[in-house]
Amino acid sequence: MPANIVVGTQWGDEGKGKIIDILASRADVVVRSQGGNNAGHTVVNNGQTYKLHLIPSGILYPDKLCLIGAGVVLDPKDFTGELSALHERGISTDNLKIDPRAHVVMPWHIILDGLSEKFRGNSDIGTTKRGIGPTYMDKYERCGIRMYDLVNPEVFAEKARSTGMLKNKIITEVYGGEAVDIEAVIKEYNEYGKILKPFVDDVSVLTFEADKSGKTIMFEGAQATLLDIDFGTYPYVTSSHPLSAGVCVGTGVGPRMISNIIGVAKAYTTRVGKGPFPTELDDEIGDKIRTVGGEFGTTTGRPRRTGWFDAVIVKHSVRVNGLDGLAINKLDTLCGLGNLKVCVGYKMPDGSTINNFPPTLEQLEGCQPIYEELEGFTEDISGCKSFEELPVSCQKYIERLEELCGCHVAMIGVGPDRSQIIER
Ligand code: GDP
Ligand code: IMO
Ligand code: MG
Repeated sequence: MPANIVVGTQWGDEGKGKIIDILASRADVVVRSQGGNNAGHTVVNNGQTYKLHLIPSGILYPDKLCLIGAGVVLDPKDFTGELSALHERGISTDNLKIDPRAHVVMPWHIILDGLSEKFRGNSDIGTTKRGIGPTYMDKYERCGIRMYDLVNPEVFAEKARSTGMLKNKIITEVYGGEAVDIEAVIKEYNEYGKILKPFVDDVSVLTFEADKSGKTIMFEGAQATLLDIDFGTYPYVTSSHPLSAGVCVGTGVGPRMISNIIGVAKAYTTRVGKGPFPTELDDEIGDKIRTVGGEFGTTTGRPRRTGWFDAVIVKHSVRVNGLDGLAINKLDTLCGLGNLKVCVGYKMPDGSTINNFPPTLEQLEGCQPIYEELEGFTEDISGCKSFEELPVSCQKYIERLEELCGCHVAMIGVGPDRSQIIER
């Protein structure tokens, strides 16, 4: 006790890594419960930048236990690369554990991710091509390979041969792609298995015991609410549950453990990949936000689409996650943009207005954002340490977001560094 969840409230990249890193300083355990290396979480500390994909953002503190739960899909090649990169920078990974139930991303998953995107043509999702969807498909088809299998060579070889053969049929006969050399994969993955074996432990038990012994736990969300497979902009979503409720199934703990849920948002909106985006700006303001905010994907380097803050979206996130508080990052990026627009509702094709996020793509595509205009600011706020130090127009902007989203703003990000945060 206590156990806190940090989730993304928009389409990802809200600065969850930064918020987790700050809150991890006050926690004992940091847990990832879903997603895979499609995530890219940035932590900036004293001019040093760390980009984490699978390893929880608590890893930069040597004394925190970092856990990867059963709901995560883990690419062992990428993961061992991430381990080495941290070791080279003097970061210890001794306190890292992976649940034996976590599913393994295999080379055929990555190939199939690419092939199915190509097959979709113009209707592609714009995935990160990390094999995430195909790995979750196998999990639910009940033919996946899990971490327990990977670290047990005989079990692994048998499962890799039977699944690999089937996947090769799909790759070659459905998509006309090139078959995977299964024996070479087994050999390569046996080496990853040897490296990863010491990390495998029951994360459900470790989290439960940490909670019972009074430790503070942080659950680190990856992706975000609008990328949730059910409550996001389906089918332009990821294949897991980035919602707060996903934490319990993805870790193997009960909901009663959770004491506080924090949603992270940007002071504007971004999205990578395809799909609807009502407040998207295809103009110089959008370009300016992208340039000033450095809005390029942490994982794929793709330019992020940019737009005004959409309170309909964040209000939806407040509801589906049961948020106790919001962290609004990147307020500093809005400096010098002139008046700031906030979307307060959507106008429908029949002239009616709605202010709850619609459940289907068809409804969403007809929506036009209704904007409210707020005064902008030109002052450099990157050194502000308290809410009162912020220009009055910034304070009013935050207070209006609170009203519109129906949630208290507990933290405000004014720069990428660990220290550039205002807590209320
Ligand atoms: P995550 O996936 O939610 O962890 O976010 P990313 O790391 O993908 O993207 C967020 C980007 O914004 C990173 O480059 C962060 O360093 C940066 N960032 C986070 N908070 C702030 C902030 O308050 N101001 C500025 N200027 N940058 C921030
Ligand atoms: P973090 O944790 C932003 C997006 C992809 C694509 C869709 C499906 O850094 O916020 P996938 O590869 O998951 O099948 O792609 O989801 N996506 C993200 N966008 N941030 C992320 O993670 C994302 N993870 C997946 O761009 O639109
Ligand atoms: Mg990211």
